[in-house]
Amino acid sequence: MSEEQGRVAVVTGANGAIGRAICQGLAERGFDVVMACRNPERARQAAGEVQKAVASARLRTEIVDVSRKAEVFAFAGRCTGRLDVLVNNAAIAPRQRGETPEGIELEFATNVLGYAWMMRAFAEALLASAPARVVNVASYWAGDLDLDDLQFKQRDYNNDTAYRQSKQADRMLTVAFARRWPPAEITVNACHPGDAHSTLSHSLGYGGHETPEQAADTPVWLATDPSIAGLTGKYFASRRQQSCEFAKNEKAIARLDEICAGF
Ligand SMILES: NC(=O)c1ccc[n+]([C@@H]2O[C@H](COP(=O)([O-])OP(=O)(O)OC[C@H]3O[C@@H](n4cnc5c(N)ncnc54)[C@H](OP(=O)(O)O)[C@@H]3O)[C@@H](O)[C@H]2O)c1
Repeated sequence: MSEEQGRVAVVTGANGAIGRAICQGLAERGFDVVMACRNPERARQAAGEVQKAVASARLRTEIVDVSRKAEVFAFAGRCTGRLDVLVNNAAIAPRQRGETPEGIELEFATNVLGYAWMMRAFAEALLASAPARVVNVASYWAGDLDLDDLQFKQRDYNNDTAYRQSKQADRMLTVAFARRWPPAEITVNACHPGDAHSTLSHSLGYGGHETPEQAADTPVWLATDPSIAGLTGKYFASRRQQSCEFAKNEKAIARLDEICAGF
């Protein structure tokens, strides 16, 4: 019997390049995987691909738009039962500035608030399944955070800047959320996955020299490896802890956390 038998993982952006590979890696390790996607057809197709790759996979698809707070909390409300691993992975880098129906800039809503809402919405389930882990898929491509203009109302919108800002924010929120919970109960870590060709990388104008499976390696390792049990609030790449300049700016972390909590 697999070591991880009976454990449950939720992965957002599960039909994307890296998300699908993360689901496959977790299914290979015996997790029941909830594939959270925003489009039913793409969800079905991705689940079919994972099932084909891992015959024993136990998968469920769930439809959720992580840029919409109400959908995230409704999703969490539908997911009763244990939750050992949450992987926040869904992200976008649209070339044009857009807004959610609630009037929030779309990239901030998806890549930043989406991560924060998922952690808040699933906190109870994670605590009830302790020890549990959150993995926030971030990026080495990060910076340009402007706490006074998170939604590009003053700056000209540029998807590279908006993306870098969002991935810096993901790393900072990782530190903030890690502090909320005892490491023996929930750990929260961020990572650069790897560089794989995807819709997102295409929008940013770069390709990717790694396969999705290679890019999923560090997120899956962070979600499962016993050697890092209890380690929290850190940033990783290629399975190695990296020093993170953004983790040192306490004032900015607190302010970002407070801003996000206001949504
Ligand atoms: N690819 C790289 O080289 C690279 C490098 C560094 C970091 N990353 C990070 O890796 C993660 C995965 O990226 P990827 O390259 O695999 O991109 P991708 O193939 O474009 O996948 C993105 C996924 O997010 C989903 N998504 C977008 N907006 C959503 C929303 N509002 N609600 C629910 N799901 C939503 C997409 O769904 P749809 O298919 O429906 O749009 C898709 O499943 C991201 O966090 C990204 O920042 C990627």
